[in-house]
Amino acid sequence: MKALILYDSRTSSGSTDVIIDTIGRSLAESGFYVEKARCKATADYSFVREFDIVILGAPVYYFIVSTQLFGSLAYGNLKKNLRRKKIALFLTCGSPEPVATALYLPQLKVHLIRNKILAEKIFPPNVLSNVELIETFVEEILHEYNRAKKSRVLSAKWTEESQEWLQTIPGFLQDKFRDMAEEYAEKKGYQEITLEMLEDARDEMGGQ
Ligand SMILES: Cc1cc2nc3c(=O)[nH]c(=O)nc-3n(C[C@H](O)[C@H](O)[C@H](O)COP(=O)(O)O)c2cc1C
Repeated sequence: MKALILYDSRTSSGSTDVIIDTIGRSLAESGFYVEKARCKATADYSFVREFDIVILGAPVYYFIVSTQLFGSLAYGNLKKNLRRKKIALFLTCGSPEPVATALYLPQLKVHLIRNKILAEKIFPPNVLSNVELIETFVEEILHEYNRAKKSRVLSAKWTEESQEWLQTIPGFLQDKFRDMAEEYAEKKGYQEITLEMLEDARDEMGGQ
């Protein structure tokens, strides 16, 4: 399993750095391969596609979520590459949680309406003194991730034929195809994953 932490901050070794280091360590301890990357609005985010979970986080400066993360979603190709991804969000800011939830989180969420948001969290700047808060956030992400996977597997059954087909594609692509097919079945309300459904999914997704 692969997790990516995409973050932005004006500072080095500030509260955001503490948060991403703790998130990364916690995920690694749970068996994830973890990478972190600092956002740049003009970057090519196609590399994001290979990750199972993407965690987006940044501070708020002058009432706006830090500009490189905000810009990557609003003007760059991050939103496109996050399609069908399971994500988690965090912000660090000085405002109380209800204010941040009402004013700042929507600045990100408006670009992520088609994503499954596993968890979201507002961290105060003094989070350094409360590592448990960060670890609880990671536990919530993993709990929701596992729950989403389990319920998807239970809701749509693979027919024998389509399972056989899955075995014909290279091993390293099978997990990705299985996930995409199950997400498609869930979205469309199919109870069975048949060869016909796989063909429809392929046509709708532009032959990916
Ligand atoms: C210049 C500046 C502007 C800020 N503006 C806001 C703001 O508008 N709203 C808010 O809730 N917090 C604001 N904060 C608090 C930061 O979001 C908070 O300190 C955050 O933890 C900084 O992250 P960093 O340590 O990674 O830079 C501001 C902080 C600074 C330094």
